[in-house]
Amino acid sequence: MAKQPKLQFPKKFLWGAATAAHQVEGGNHNQWTVWELENANALAKQAAYKLGELECWSDIKKQATNPHNYVSGRAVDHYRRYEQDFDLLQKLQMNAFRFSIEWSRIEPKEGMWDTREVEHYRRYIAALKKRNIEPIMTLLHFTLPDWFAKKGGFEKRRNVKYFVRYAEYVMTQIGQDVKYVLTLNEPEIYATQSYLTAEWPPQKQKKWLWIQVINNQIVAHTRAARMIHGLARGHKVSIAKNSAYYYPGDASMLSRATAASMQGVQDDYFLKRIIRHCNFIRVNYYFSNRLYGTQIHNENKKCSDLGWDMHPRDLQFVLERLHQKYKKPILITENGLADMHDTKRKWWLANTLYAMSEAIKHGVKLEGYLHWSLLDNFEWAYGKWPRFGLVAVDYKTMQRTMRPSAVWFSKVVKKIYRESM
Ligand code: BGC
Repeated sequence: MAKQPKLQFPKKFLWGAATAAHQVEGGNHNQWTVWELENANALAKQAAYKLGELECWSDIKKQATNPHNYVSGRAVDHYRRYEQDFDLLQKLQMNAFRFSIEWSRIEPKEGMWDTREVEHYRRYIAALKKRNIEPIMTLLHFTLPDWFAKKGGFEKRRNVKYFVRYAEYVMTQIGQDVKYVLTLNEPEIYATQSYLTAEWPPQKQKKWLWIQVINNQIVAHTRAARMIHGLARGHKVSIAKNSAYYYPGDASMLSRATAASMQGVQDDYFLKRIIRHCNFIRVNYYFSNRLYGTQIHNENKKCSDLGWDMHPRDLQFVLERLHQKYKKPILITENGLADMHDTKRKWWLANTLYAMSEAIKHGVKLEGYLHWSLLDNFEWAYGKWPRFGLVAVDYKTMQRTMRPSAVWFSKVVKKIYRESM
């Protein structure tokens, strides 16, 4: 790689990684668990058709055509092994960690609170703090208790109160131990995958429900954030917002206008409506989309194992746009790639560091970077074959092994710390 200009990061920067309960904990029972068991066979049968074009198909064929791949099951057993995983965070020089609370553990039946699970998360957060790692807590990361899903989940406005009640319970029980709170993870992705493309439960393809679910989550965030701010404990509240970067592939008016309007709708529809109730912007960035006229045609020169067109440096433009528009501090709550052989991750990280540093030089108030993910994990409808972890996990033995790119990254972070002293 060509010599890069000096990286510039503020002294107090959060360096960390992110996870979500259902993807790592194991032993959960929620609407996803139910769906996985019902659909594992079908997903395995469809694999060749859906994934056969991927560059890595020969590597993943065996796993992707096996129904077990699509069942989260023990996941990576993080529920029991979290102390060991937090030691890894320390080894990686990290001072922040994003995780989610599993609603279905806290409230397995409507109105019944499981205090043992509250204690679990209390110990979990304490274990992070003991290691001087800042806990960044997500209240809802795609998984709903089965009883809430059966009531229609976020399809119905009157159901929002259940989420707010759960949020209030968590905040009164363990909220005092955390400063950073994310109410919802990528609410629009959740709505789109579940109600528009219908690839996730409840697999309903209904436009009006899609819009309703988005709007009800706007209300859910607003009410939960009001409640959290009302506790007057100085919590920093937001959602984790997905943001791809849209750019025109040619100089035509149409390509430029479409790219700009897609960026606007994606970034602003939800954010504009909740921004008054956010102390920060939290952004998840994974890929870019190139527009020719009104169509997306990506160059796909360098793709992740999932076939996502990788442009890590575009993160700079995502950050600068959000900064110019909202003037709030930003935290990157997810960013990473599926790369089972670890041949692209170092390149991705190096370019991401560059993009962040450039954005900072251009005035973006960037407060931290959380890589997705600490560990290999259950990647929703794709199952377990995509490998997003800085740390590889052997699903049979549960053994954790740091990937070379992660070791390299930790050395860079250490150097940045040293230089900012
Ligand atoms: C989600 C994660 C997911 C990651 C990679 C994000 O949209 O929040 O749960 O694993 O993307 O697909």
